[in-house]
Amino acid sequence: MDSRSFSYLPGALLINVPEIDAQHADLFERLASLKISCIEHNTYMKEEADELFVTLVEHCETEGRLAREAGVDFRRHGEKHLAMLHGIRKRLDEMEHPEADVYGVIRYIEYWLERHIREEDTLLGKSLGASAFSGVVQAHAGMWLSQDGAC
Ligand SMILES: [Fe+2]
Ligand SMILES: [Fe+2]
Repeated sequence: MDSRSFSYLPGALLINVPEIDAQHADLFERLASLKISCIEHNTYMKEEADELFVTLVEHCETEGRLAREAGVDFRRHGEKHLAMLHGIRKRLDEMEHPEADVYGVIRYIEYWLERHIREEDTLLGKSLGASAFSGVVQAHAGMWLSQDGAC
């Protein structure tokens, strides 16, 4: 990912976990691109919207994996992901109706993403940071103890 993509991610939504921040930036860029495509073609761009949804599913899996690897309890966060994915999928499926509001669905996804990052991902970022810090402390503690034992 190039640095240009980060311009789509508001600074307030950075959670300081590079892999997650990069994926959030990619999601916002895809959302902006979907909006532009819909305007240019004056219609709902289903293929692009479905690609965005797949990227969102993969992103949720990434957060679950990082939490698992760090031993962070992800159950509640995972449930929020399922609710978000279910709501967005439902809205995308409703786009098949001729009277569907293309820009309404884009605003809906944007709203969910922003809210989810603020309310859930920020906490995950802190937990992952704390877990990484305690891992470093434990590694050093082990080293210090073995040095003590050697004296
Ligand atoms: Fe999340
Ligand atoms: Fe996220």
